[in-house]
Amino acid sequence: MTDLFSKFDPLIQQRETLLATGVTDPYNLVMEKVVSPTVAICNGRETILLGTYNYMGMTFDEDVIAAGKDALDKFGSGTTGSRVLNGTYQGHKECEEALKEFYAMDHAMVFSTGYQANLGIISTIAGKGDYVILDIDSHASIYDGCAMGNAEIVAFRHNDVEALEKRLKRLPPEAGKLVVLEGVYSMLGDIAPLKEMIRVSKEAGAMVLVDEAHSMGFIGENGRGVAEAQGVLDDVDFIIGTFSKSVGTVGGFCVSNHPKFEILRLVCRPYVFTASLPPSVVATAATSIRKLMHGSNKRAHLWENSKILHKGLRDLGFTLGTDEPQSAIIAVIMPDLEKGAMMWEALLEEGLYGACPRVQSGPGSRRT
Ligand SMILES: Cc1ncc(COP(=O)(O)O)c(C=O)c1O
Repeated sequence: MTDLFSKFDPLIQQRETLLATGVTDPYNLVMEKVVSPTVAICNGRETILLGTYNYMGMTFDEDVIAAGKDALDKFGSGTTGSRVLNGTYQGHKECEEALKEFYAMDHAMVFSTGYQANLGIISTIAGKGDYVILDIDSHASIYDGCAMGNAEIVAFRHNDVEALEKRLKRLPPEAGKLVVLEGVYSMLGDIAPLKEMIRVSKEAGAMVLVDEAHSMGFIGENGRGVAEAQGVLDDVDFIIGTFSKSVGTVGGFCVSNHPKFEILRLVCRPYVFTASLPPSVVATAATSIRKLMHGSNKRAHLWENSKILHKGLRDLGFTLGTDEPQSAIIAVIMPDLEKGAMMWEALLEEGLYGACPRVQSGPGSRRT
């Protein structure tokens, strides 16, 4: 018998070497109690949460919690069905209405996670004979969406407009093309030059999808993301987002003005062949999204915090992902995984939780 697990040996070895240094496993932290969006009890001690994606602190919002409890009482704990069978409740429709209003777009489709939204939309709209052109630093869900579909995949250097343009020019002019970008890239916390990238994409006849997972609620005058901040929202064909960050629950979505968008509800497998979100989740999401429409104070406050943290870390001599703060992700570049894990553990012992050091071993292998 060939042990199918032997392919994991290098990773098992890497993990064992790391743990042999005596460092705590950074991927095994338990939040024993969550006190607020910014404080939890970890290893029995009060810990400040610096490394979550709870950008707008909506997880403990009174209205959000009340909406969830009410839906739980009135509609039960789950739908037990796909969106196209018995799994579309009033709450799913209300959630999609809230998204349409939030983005001022014609169509919105709610998925069970943001991962599934990328998986479904990319694999469904880019088919055989088409091309997906993506930034090499794209999130794993974007790579997996490509792997699931039948299109040709073309990657270009991170945030490099010229590289994107060159790749586009090499493709057959008549072929269907989908350029996939992110507003904020979570590895470095940098934003994409969407304006220029969308211009070259449109000149090449490509459709554009922007994943605004880390910018929704925070970036742009109305929190619609980097495309809004750069004045190009109308040129984006599909926006992908998640409820697991600023919205403060779980779920994913795609919004669009494409006139044929609704057909996706019948042909997009990660939408059709999975159970829909529980009523309490869509109720919390809809309430949170509506509140985020009026979240300018929170946005200003988060910008202030991002700037303070960025400056403080830079003044201490750390190497950061960006010269200036571009988003709410302030990435500290550590020389190697071991030092990163040691720093993570030392901070935790001081009562500060930062996001785990990440293992980076090639495109598409990123953690969130
Ligand atoms: C850019 C990006 N897209 C999609 C996702 C997936 O979102 P979800 O947590 O809803 O599956 C993430 C999650 O980290 C992300 O960072």
